[in-house]
Amino acid sequence: MWYTVAMRLNKYIASAGVCSRRKADELIANGNVKINGVVIREMGAQVEEGDAVSVNGTEIKADAAKVYVAVNKPMGYITSMDDDKDRQTVADLVADIPERLFPVGRLDYNTTGLLIMTNDGALTYALTHPKHEVSKTYVATVAGVLSNARLARLRKGVDIGGFVTSPAQVRVLRQNPRSAVVEISIHEGKNRQVRKMFAAVGNKVQSLERVAIGDIRLGRLLPGHYRKLTKAEIEYLKSL
Ligand code: URA
Repeated sequence: MWYTVAMRLNKYIASAGVCSRRKADELIANGNVKINGVVIREMGAQVEEGDAVSVNGTEIKADAAKVYVAVNKPMGYITSMDDDKDRQTVADLVADIPERLFPVGRLDYNTTGLLIMTNDGALTYALTHPKHEVSKTYVATVAGVLSNARLARLRKGVDIGGFVTSPAQVRVLRQNPRSAVVEISIHEGKNRQVRKMFAAVGNKVQSLERVAIGDIRLGRLLPGHYRKLTKAEIEYLKSL
């Protein structure tokens, strides 16, 4: 249940999708509404957690509140709601949230970083639809030297086994003697895409972290922790 404080009966009926609040007032006045089996005609009646509300004898449920969180997925968690091998899942990271939240897209077992989780199915569908996938930014540590020629190939698009990737934004943040730290933004979400892209140019990914989904950034969120998205972030995601 999401209404941790009492909620006006007419609002409850409206949020259950039965009718408008005004129409709900009429139903209440006409004696069509019961709370816990008792007809209620009082306009200001409140519904409390655990109450059973019925309209014309049919029990109704107000919509579950939509919850949106950003999770910093640690290594060794699978992006799934449960696992037949009993490994830890991202659901464990939000276990103290009463609503059942689903991951938007997925990160590999060994990939860390930003994952959005929500019970808003429509948003999940929109964000993961291949037609309008939002950009995702990763920081990868890759083995070896990332030459300019390889960078150019990554930017243009590479064949990752029957699929040529779209143009990507790629920049080297640091070139170490035996590895490079690279930021890469892609718009697609093929299975293990970033790992395959670097493999295609000859640089094996050693570690991979997602740092942003569109304009939403991982920031300083600690691994294994979550934060609720702000109103502005939720509106931004819905606008995409
Ligand atoms: N690309 C990958 O290779 N792995 C991920 O987890 C995400 C993008």
